[in-house]
Amino acid sequence: MSGSNPTNRIFSGVQPTGGLHLGNYLGAIRNWVRLQKDYECIFCVVDMHAITVWQDPVALRKATHEVAAAYIACGIDPEENILFHQSANPNHAELAWIFNCVARMGWLNRMTQFKDKAGKNRENASTGLFVYPNLMAADILAYKATHVPVGEDQKQHLELTRDIATKFNNDFGAEDFFPLPEPVIQKEAARIMSLRDGAKKMSKSDPSEYSRLIMTDGPDEIAQKLRKAKTDPEPLPSEMDGLEDRPEARNLVSIYAALQDIDDATALSRVAGKQFKDFKEELTDVAVTKLGPIGDEMKRLMAAPDHIEAILHKGGERAREISEPILRDVYDIVGFVGR
Ligand code: TYM
Repeated sequence: MSGSNPTNRIFSGVQPTGGLHLGNYLGAIRNWVRLQKDYECIFCVVDMHAITVWQDPVALRKATHEVAAAYIACGIDPEENILFHQSANPNHAELAWIFNCVARMGWLNRMTQFKDKAGKNRENASTGLFVYPNLMAADILAYKATHVPVGEDQKQHLELTRDIATKFNNDFGAEDFFPLPEPVIQKEAARIMSLRDGAKKMSKSDPSEYSRLIMTDGPDEIAQKLRKAKTDPEPLPSEMDGLEDRPEARNLVSIYAALQDIDDATALSRVAGKQFKDFKEELTDVAVTKLGPIGDEMKRLMAAPDHIEAILHKGGERAREISEPILRDVYDIVGFVGR
């Protein structure tokens, strides 16, 4: 068996399915940038997850470049960390197959993301969408990652990953072979809501473009979307309690806070008593200041897709160097004659 388990290895990823939005940034990528100093980090563009629902091939390739560009533009260093696209390392798919045979139908039937994405037409959902969480477990465990920084919506999938790791270790008598990875979910901005409906999370699949800020939005788009963001007629309160039952106001205050790296209560104290018209102008300034340079850098990087692909391919090789010995152990544990 190859060596001892790591203690501080991060794996996380984003799907290349359309424009990267503020929720992805505030809920996930922003935190990765902080964590890269203290952890050995593997950041992935999860293109194999993306195709669990139909993707236009040309758009998929472009979106893969875009997510990689976003990682770099947000401050992920591709030399210090591993940055790659999932399909570059076949170990993910190989381990996912084994996990398809470990995870139980009943576990997957409980996944709320499958229910949301498949909607009423479950019969017509791809089988890939159903076993999506097994691939996600494989992403993480192929590297024996110990920490997984994500937004709140991925918590259930991480619990399933731990269940799969536990069952694999038990079934095969391989005590402690897979570590039980810890979710790293920041309290602030763990769940950014739609700008049109404070009860729905901000999401790439929302049909309304006004529901989300995209990382490449320019100042005019940011201003327009925030002007149109749903609010209520009351001015902003001075205490957090006053935001209860006001989900849209609460969401805008959280965004305002997260963009400035301050807590919600401090942010609220800065804008207490303001009407939404004035608050939205201030929020626009903050958003343009923070997102503008990231969006510009993304556009600059995306103008050189060959450079991005070179980074991704090199990252894929480095990723495989870590996962290959782990897969070899897995094959041995399962009883395959081996590679
Ligand atoms: P995805 O592509 O939907 O989202 C990427 C990251 O952004 C976070 N996020 C949000 N955070 C706060 N508010 C929101 N409205 C919001 N929307 C999205 C997500 O929590 C996520 O951290 N299954 C994953 C991708 C994945 C993965 C993995 C993640 C595949 N394999 C292994 C970690 C480890 C997904 O669909 O994320």
